[in-house]
Amino acid sequence: MPENTTEVKTIAVIGAGQMGEGIAQVAAVSRFSVIVYDVSSDALRRCQESHKKRITKLSEKPPEKGGIPPADVEPVLARIKYVHNLSPVGGADVAIEAVVENFDLKKKIFHELAHTLTGRQILATNTSSIGITSIAASVGAAAERVVGMHFFNPVPVMKLVEVIKGIQTSQETVERTIALAKALGKTPIPANDRAGFISNRVLMPMINEGFYAWMEGVAEPRNIDEIMKLGCNFPMGPLELADFIGLDTCVNIMDVMADGLNDDRYRACPLLKQLVAAGRMGKKTGRGVYEYPKA
Ligand code: CAA
Repeated sequence: MPENTTEVKTIAVIGAGQMGEGIAQVAAVSRFSVIVYDVSSDALRRCQESHKKRITKLSEKPPEKGGIPPADVEPVLARIKYVHNLSPVGGADVAIEAVVENFDLKKKIFHELAHTLTGRQILATNTSSIGITSIAASVGAAAERVVGMHFFNPVPVMKLVEVIKGIQTSQETVERTIALAKALGKTPIPANDRAGFISNRVLMPMINEGFYAWMEGVAEPRNIDEIMKLGCNFPMGPLELADFIGLDTCVNIMDVMADGLNDDRYRACPLLKQLVAAGRMGKKTGRGVYEYPKA
């Protein structure tokens, strides 16, 4: 585990969904105290149950694969607090927001965070496409502390953190964010604030093209995915990956890119939008491109 050479002791994770859960796990394993905040008690309960399972399972893995000694399981779990009001978050050194991709919700949360964390604390967002500059614009003078910290799913496995500098973000905030990402065992790579940043600007057109190829009957979904896995050495094909990310999330990201980059080439494929309209959101709903029977 990397040594924590930052001044950060406590990380607040805002949102107990899939990404928030993963970020909180990585932070607790990296010896940070963690406060997970969500307005939904159900979401907090699910997050806590999942942490118990996943962190206990880490004790079965060797250290080089992210494993921890069995004796560390309880201390790691004890470092995570679950709260549904914002006041305990005031004790954190950093907040990482990981709620759904909704600009109005993020603006509201950042407004509250700026009033709760009034010192030098970093106010990071895990947004996958929404402009950091626009989010920062909602917090007045605290805008220089707002930064993008884009993690990848599954967070405990994926090495990258894309660090995004908005127009108002100070260089000091970027440097402290890079140090924090390293202390979390991740590889931070900077990008500037354009819709989709780098990761989704390159990934989403590939996923979209997979849907167009399917829609045009070039090949069946399984064959599209196998071709990209075996031919390009991807761990998942584009359609399987879209199911993993969530088809609705893919459409949202593409809408943000098409609007933000003023270019219709980023618009989501009609078939992809149709599956979302049919409620087939991917793995999380049990059906997307493929079916996922409950285990
Ligand atoms: N949480 C923690 N660990 C997990 C996990 C999860 N949700 N899912 C899988 N893992 C771990 C497993 O425990 C396993 O660890 P060991 O090798 O130490 O046993 C390892 O990952 C491999 O898992 P599996 O053997 O079960 O399955 P796999 O070999 O098929 O790998 C995968 C699964 C890691 C998800 C792999 O398929 C993969 O890397 N897929 C691509 C993922 C990807 O591209 N993510 C980015 C999506 S884009 C995004 O997140 C950002 C955005 O803005 C949209």
